[in-house]
Amino acid sequence: MDFRGQTALITGASRGIGKAIAFSLAQQNIRTLLLIARDPQRLKSVAVDLEALGVEVSILPLDLTDPHTVHATLVKALRHHPPIDLLVNCAGVAYQRPFIESRLQHIEAELMTNLLGMYTITRLVARQMVRRKQGHIVNVSSLMGKVAAPSMATYSATKHAVIGFSQALRNELAPHNVKVTNLLPSLTKTDMVKDMTPFRWVQATRPEQVAKAMVAGVKRGEHEILVGWQSRMTLLCARLSPSLLNQIIRWTQPQLPVAAASQSN
Ligand SMILES: NC(=O)c1ccc[n+]([C@@H]2O[C@H](COP(=O)([O-])OP(=O)(O)OC[C@H]3O[C@@H](n4cnc5c(N)ncnc54)[C@H](OP(=O)(O)O)[C@@H]3O)[C@@H](O)[C@H]2O)c1
Repeated sequence: MDFRGQTALITGASRGIGKAIAFSLAQQNIRTLLLIARDPQRLKSVAVDLEALGVEVSILPLDLTDPHTVHATLVKALRHHPPIDLLVNCAGVAYQRPFIESRLQHIEAELMTNLLGMYTITRLVARQMVRRKQGHIVNVSSLMGKVAAPSMATYSATKHAVIGFSQALRNELAPHNVKVTNLLPSLTKTDMVKDMTPFRWVQATRPEQVAKAMVAGVKRGEHEILVGWQSRMTLLCARLSPSLLNQIIRWTQPQLPVAAASQSN
């Protein structure tokens, strides 16, 4: 895909990986960006910096956990914008806790944002792409979408689901010339992980590296984009010796104290 003169919609564009992707696309001379996140101030500030690079930017402050409002607002917005050539579903939330201590509100937020939010946006944008017989969708999963992480069970489940969703959609949309790619970052230094206890030995990458990998992978037409050698090693180990990988996960997993499990939500 050549990004020059194209229009992209990015969710989760106010911070972290989504913001880095917006700037990488600006460097690739993308023409128009439509940016979604909840915080309007952060979105405005990102938009100002992108406009200084010559990109036309519109912001849509939306909460992806509210699918009805997202649907209605996006239907209107799409009427007033150039058609979307590239959709990047990047918004996501993650909570780290032993599962037996997990909170219902966190489970709901992970399912609603990481899955329902992505479905709501994709359904609308993919319809437009199918009508035009062109488009590319990038769904941001995670290495945890391949290798689930203890203490992040629900998050890992949502990221596995992103991969399954993308696989189904890839073949469904292929006859319409719409491509679907999974981006699988590993640990990346963003707000999402700043208060988390990391796995031992895992090296964090930077959002800019993830964005660079995405741009290169989409240009090459890859179905799955891995970021960094640690991800490649992990998946190789998963293929060659799943039992060894399980042992490594147990050695390196965060040691989070489990209080006597309460009945609270
Ligand atoms: N950081 C990592 O180690 C890592 C690793 C693998 C995969 N990922 C994936 O990469 C993606 C981006 O993560 P990140 O690390 O960049 O996280 P981040 O810095 O916390 O940014 C998350 C983005 O999502 C937006 N967002 C969150 N909840 C939302 C909601 N309900 N509605 C609309 N927007 C919402 C946030 O903006 P507002 O708060 O303004 O809404 C923000 O722009 C996620 O899908 C994550 O799962 C991250």
